[in-house]
Amino acid sequence: MIQPYTEILSEILIPADVLQKRIAELGAEISADYAGEELLLICILKGGVMFLTDLVRHITVPTAFDFMAVSSYGVGARESTGQVRIEMDLRISIADRHVILVEDIVDTGHTIAAVLEMLETRKPKSLKVCSLLDKSERRETVAPIHYRGFEIPNKFVFGYGLDLDEYWRNLPFIGVVKT
Ligand code: PRP
Repeated sequence: MIQPYTEILSEILIPADVLQKRIAELGAEISADYAGEELLLICILKGGVMFLTDLVRHITVPTAFDFMAVSSYGVGARESTGQVRIEMDLRISIADRHVILVEDIVDTGHTIAAVLEMLETRKPKSLKVCSLLDKSERRETVAPIHYRGFEIPNKFVFGYGLDLDEYWRNLPFIGVVKT
């Protein structure tokens, strides 16, 4: 049985209306920065899905999107080695296109650093990162974030794309897990 989220939640860190307001701002900022250009957003599954689908509604330049899935080379490996591998690759080419990677959270930074390195070899016209959450206290490697939603403290968070054993990604807010 999956516990109701109300039994796991200690506090709401970012309420739904605050999330949506910030996402609208990010969409407007991206739209202004890419005025006159075409854009390709790449969502890293699964956590970035909720954010991507809300963000694109606020982008006014011609925008395509695609998905990729990555995982670490084994339990704990990402923390120690920073190695990630592609589980599901993009279906479209990024060569000579303006690309923004869309993530729910940058934590140690290993995922985004590795994906950036892999995608740079495919020669995009530009490659940037948009992350809803930045838990910078936990950073272990250089991970540039060009568009950042919120800086958050080092707490175990869930909701709005972030899961607890695959559940509760659908919550409209970011919550903190009871310890
Ligand atoms: C989460 C998140 C990022 C990554 C960030 O994905 O969506 O991709 O971890 O962590 P890092 O900065 O320490 O590398 P996760 O592996 O939990 O998969 P999910 O998105 O499918 O839940």
